Amino acid sequence: MIVRPRRLRQTPEIRRMVRETFLRVDDFIYPIFVMHGKGKREPIPSMVGNYRLSVDELLKEAEEVKSLGIPGVILFGLPEVKDQLGSPAYAEDGIVQRAVAAIKENVPGLVVLTDVCLCQYTDHGHCGIIRDGRIDNDTTLEILAEVALSHARAGADFVAPSDMMDGRVRAIRDRLEKEGYKDTGILSYAVKYSSAFYGPFREAADSTPQFGDRKTYQMDPANKREALKEAAIDVEEGADIIMVKPALPYLDIIHQVKACTNLPVAAYNVSGEYAMVKAADQKGWIDGESVMMEMLISIKRAGADIILTYFAKEAARLING
Ligand code: PBG
Repeated sequence: MIVRPRRLRQTPEIRRMVRETFLRVDDFIYPIFVMHGKGKREPIPSMVGNYRLSVDELLKEAEEVKSLGIPGVILFGLPEVKDQLGSPAYAEDGIVQRAVAAIKENVPGLVVLTDVCLCQYTDHGHCGIIRDGRIDNDTTLEILAEVALSHARAGADFVAPSDMMDGRVRAIRDRLEKEGYKDTGILSYAVKYSSAFYGPFREAADSTPQFGDRKTYQMDPANKREALKEAAIDVEEGADIIMVKPALPYLDIIHQVKACTNLPVAAYNVSGEYAMVKAADQKGWIDGESVMMEMLISIKRAGADIILTYFAKEAARLING
């Protein structure tokens, strides 16, 4: 007797019946870059279809995201000035703080996450404070906690530390609890690799390090057991959701992290993953829409419960039909 798996692929209906993984609009979080000014909508050349938005334009975008059924957005700020300590990152009237408050007031119901990091705000472009030419972990923790607190005060539902300093989830959790923000959650970029796939983002956010690289804090792409160690530490320190980043070259990591925690697992389908699809699609070398959906379902199949993706709106439109 021949075994005939093709029986289960004969018609769209049968295939639908035996399908194992589904993408839902509920799976997505849409990343947005926000800047000072009014009426600003600057296209990001390497991330076709994405913009740097002033707060008034951001509100229109947030409305659109909400109307598509996408549960939330993650905000990245572009400050007017930068300094050594990244102080615009925790200014009460900083760009992210104003953006969060505006969304909370005008687009109720949309979940607002904020990226907590210093690289867009420091003049040297590193994610931490520099002392004697090195990134000083423990000084950085105090500032990150200050940034997270300022986002919580503005009304963020979740703060998302992406710096990869040791101990930052605990430092942030402690600070939030102490100040009474017990309901503000932490989505931790627990497993963040030192990746060339962040290129377009760094252009968009003007956050390229001015010397050296991020290899002393972001992870070596060759390491898998270290990913499990990082994930376990952040769970222990009080993260509510843990994330793996980038997504596509690290599907094995998503799968393993999912197996070792009961927390929701997020994956960040980063700027370079997005840009490659758009570029090849524009050249007519691939069908961008099909590749997008295949990419997203692979991330879901690997185990991601939540996908942060610049494709969120496009994919949502397809799913909604
Ligand atoms: C900030 C941060 C980065 C990304 C998210 N938060 C850049 C980096 O670490 O250099 C990358 C996101 C993307 O590429 O889409 N630390």
